[in-house]
Amino acid sequence: MSGPVELRSSQGAPHAAILGLGAYRPSRVVPNSEIVGRIDSTDEWVQQRSGIRERRWATDDETVQSMSVAASRVALERAGIDATQIDCVVVATISHMMQTPAVATLVAHELGTEQAAAFDVSAACAGFCHGVGMAADFIRAGSARHVLVIGVEKLSEITNPDDRGSAFIFADGAGAVVMGPSDVAGVGPVVWGSDGEQYDLIRQREDWREVIVADEPVIPHLVMQGNAVFRWASFAMAKIGREALDRAGVSPEQLDCFVPHQANMRITDAMARAMKLPPGVRIARDIAEQGNTSAASIPLALERMYDEGDAKSGDIALLVAFGAGLAYAAQVVRLP
Ligand SMILES: CC(C)(COP(=O)(O)OP(=O)(O)OC[C@H]1O[C@@H](n2cnc3c(N)ncnc32)[C@H](O)[C@@H]1OP(=O)(O)O)[C@@H](O)C(=O)NCCC(=O)NCCS
Repeated sequence: MSGPVELRSSQGAPHAAILGLGAYRPSRVVPNSEIVGRIDSTDEWVQQRSGIRERRWATDDETVQSMSVAASRVALERAGIDATQIDCVVVATISHMMQTPAVATLVAHELGTEQAAAFDVSAACAGFCHGVGMAADFIRAGSARHVLVIGVEKLSEITNPDDRGSAFIFADGAGAVVMGPSDVAGVGPVVWGSDGEQYDLIRQREDWREVIVADEPVIPHLVMQGNAVFRWASFAMAKIGREALDRAGVSPEQLDCFVPHQANMRITDAMARAMKLPPGVRIARDIAEQGNTSAASIPLALERMYDEGDAKSGDIALLVAFGAGLAYAAQVVRLP
């Protein structure tokens, strides 16, 4: 008589780390002056209330897929990893226009992975940090050795140019990281969660069934109760950031960079104040020239910090992402 069947379970690397970062900014620069006329606003108002001076919008040729591939190629090259070594591709996005299949499978194929596992994550502006958290766990658990995590959006296609509350905020772009095994911890514990009671604060205006039965063509634009989101993000997310620091065993004094989701410059400032970050911590402010690119905003902001000398390899950075759902995720990482 044999006993119960014993299953083997996998075991991966002792630690995971980010090995390389890449980004792609669309070619079209859109200043506030192009937007404010339709929403009875001004360049001054938009800059003062959001910190945004201009944003990038993709052209027809710049798609969710093409921007993902471009950012990933840079990340792979910087990581010194070939696409054939990638076991898993995670794409965080809310603006891939096909409900199914996932754009991740197209990206994995175009990059030349060897049939890597590939799927999309729908956690809106928090999607990239969800992806980083999952990828670190896959690597440590042995489900994958090298994971590509992409945050990408083409929000210009689902932004209502006549909506005063959001027309000036949303933008397009892509960022990617290659993650892999490491001897030392490169990713701290993820602090994540959701508050479905506030599901309505940022959402697609019509569900797809309403789009199908509409008499006139309908684009299911994003709608947002900006002020409620603003109040929630400025305070609740500072707590999540502090918790991510505590769980990683990092004090604010040991932090080099703070890279929050680029939602609004005033939210970034309020969070930094509420977390009592020391003045030496460098803070990502990509939103001024890039707008809010949802899932892409953290890797894009990080890329700018490298370019401007505000971040370097080995730096300790706190990532805090939050958005529709409401969903949030934060972790401390060591920069590649
Ligand atoms: C959208 C946002 C910039 C608006 O700023 P705000 O300070 O909250 O502004 P409010 O909505 O309270 O409106 C304040 C006033 O400005 C007016 N206003 C709103 N939009 C305006 C615009 N585009 N131009 C000029 N005035 C505007 C309002 O009518 C209101 O006027 P009143 O005081 O006479 O009633 C801000 O709420 C925000 O960024 N929220 C976070 C949104 C976000 O990042 N979401 C993405 C997901 S994380």
